[in-house]
Amino acid sequence: MAGRVAGKKAFITGAAQGLGAAAAKKLAAEGAKVALADINVKGVEALAGELNKAHGAGTAFAFALDVTQEDQWIAALKAANDAMGGVSVLLNNAGISRGGGLEDMALDTWRTVMSVNVDSVFLGAKHALKYMRDNQPGSIINISSIAGLIASHNNPSYNASKAAVWLLSKSIALHCAKHKLAIRSNSIHPTFIDTPILDPLRQMLGKEEAEAKLARQIPIGHIGEPDDIANAVLYLASDESKFMTGAELRLDGGISAM
Ligand SMILES: NC(=O)c1ccc[n+]([C@@H]2O[C@H](COP(=O)([O-])OP(=O)(O)OC[C@H]3O[C@@H](n4cnc5c(N)ncnc54)[C@H](O)[C@@H]3O)[C@@H](O)[C@H]2O)c1
Repeated sequence: MAGRVAGKKAFITGAAQGLGAAAAKKLAAEGAKVALADINVKGVEALAGELNKAHGAGTAFAFALDVTQEDQWIAALKAANDAMGGVSVLLNNAGISRGGGLEDMALDTWRTVMSVNVDSVFLGAKHALKYMRDNQPGSIINISSIAGLIASHNNPSYNASKAAVWLLSKSIALHCAKHKLAIRSNSIHPTFIDTPILDPLRQMLGKEEAEAKLARQIPIGHIGEPDDIANAVLYLASDESKFMTGAELRLDGGISAM
């Protein structure tokens, strides 16, 4: 099949909805095979069915994965490697946000956010490289956030975890370069994008007011669409970005230009 990522084999975490699902759709439409991993198994099974219907059987596969669990990473990557005939792209997308200020946040909540957002990237890169070595050139794409570069007063665990993803992406890039692997690693930093992650705020303020409140913080004047991020994933997954590693893509409607 022709396409900008024809022949690529992408493992995607948090693929049941939101940015992960949008990236999976984009990569499959551009010729990649996709392994969809999530704790929401029904969600990834449904999306895999949809993509196989649209692009042919054997395009998409669904796997249960809690990204905080090393044994599950080992099993899911092996199964995905067997199913797709390799792994050449890793999209570390699964992530959570748990509000709560510095003085109110329970240590357990802090640890949960750090584990889902940061342990995931460490474990994914560590165990995927075994397969990606055999499928070069490859690309590791980590979804950080603009909140990993710019802090706010009320989300310390999210700020700290996404900042960790930012520098960990560079560390992975340098590890691969040092070992002469044609495997790149970069981070993506979105601002507010229209996905279910915004639902708690929508429930609190109502959809219109919530989105207007977020939009007021963005120079371009509105929140982003999932495809705004999926297009960046497509670029980083493809060989069009073959000279880009250890870098960050800010898709923030101009926030960090201020
Ligand atoms: N949407 C935004 O405004 C925005 C902005 C900046 C960064 N991000 C980041 O983008 C990524 C995707 O966000 P989204 O908006 O699509 O969120 P979402 O809540 O819509 O989807 C997240 C997905 O991750 C899965 N997931 C959660 N915990 C998991 C775990 N332990 N193991 C495996 N899967 C798990 C969920 O089941 C869900 O399918 C996250 O890392 C998020 O922090 C989102």
